[in-house]
Amino acid sequence: MNQTDTQYSDANADVISRDGSIKLHSATDFDGMRKAGKLAAQCLDLLVPMVQVGVTTEALDNTAREFILDNGALPACLGYRGYKHTICTSVNHVVCHGIPASKPLKNGDIVNIDVTVIVDGWHGDTSRMYPVGKINRKAERLINITYDSLMLGIAQIKPGNTTGDIGAAIQEFAQGERCSIVQDFCGHGLGRLFHDAPNILHFGTKGQGEVLREGMFFTVEPMINLGRPDCKVLSDGWTAVTRDKKLTAQFEHSLGVTATGVEIFTKSPAGLDKPPYL
Ligand code: MF3
Ligand code: CO
Ligand code: CO
Repeated sequence: MNQTDTQYSDANADVISRDGSIKLHSATDFDGMRKAGKLAAQCLDLLVPMVQVGVTTEALDNTAREFILDNGALPACLGYRGYKHTICTSVNHVVCHGIPASKPLKNGDIVNIDVTVIVDGWHGDTSRMYPVGKINRKAERLINITYDSLMLGIAQIKPGNTTGDIGAAIQEFAQGERCSIVQDFCGHGLGRLFHDAPNILHFGTKGQGEVLREGMFFTVEPMINLGRPDCKVLSDGWTAVTRDKKLTAQFEHSLGVTATGVEIFTKSPAGLDKPPYL
């Protein structure tokens, strides 16, 4: 989501609205998120063998949409604020919200695929990086750093820790690897709503921010750049790119805070959480 966004309307707006409070969820709500997260992860698993030289991001979008509908779920992005696709496909210097198109992927590209499904009213939101053909060492290194930064952020999650602990862990690691962190977009609460409180910044100070409590649901979705952190949104109103046109990467999980730590709802059932997808 966009960090500056505070209001939006969606199909749920009459039922539940975003009032700024952080919702605490029950055991049956965890069951709902488990199902939604699993289907979203299975959708990304399905796309793994399809991401090859020559495939179009439009073809990936069609496959994702059909898979979701065939499973009795809804593509959350389709129709969201006028977005016309099921997935976001962000190639090379595209930070996020890349729009599926008819241009074929080429050898050496790296692409983030981000999908959100709605199962029985619950949102599962996840993204991964996909290498196209043979990628170079810089790209491979960025992908590894980005995945590790996500998992280090998630490792901070337990009741009593804060959102700042998550951001600080990501910042310390990514900047220590001489990478920069996108500040224009952040993780978000989710559940029956797609984007809810709290905002999860991917940088910050230990002990600052919101205190984590059992039953909170949110995403962590760091965008990490090889060059400068600065982004701009293209005239299509969606595509966010790095201003210096250098490579960027992102991974995203949806998760819940448990009594003792964290449950990741969007882990790959096939073990395909990060490349190489052998
Ligand atoms: N899935 C994105 C997120 O992580 C949101 C995409 S909104 C869309 O929050 F409309 F671009 F699909
Ligand atoms: Co998200
Ligand atoms: Co997402």
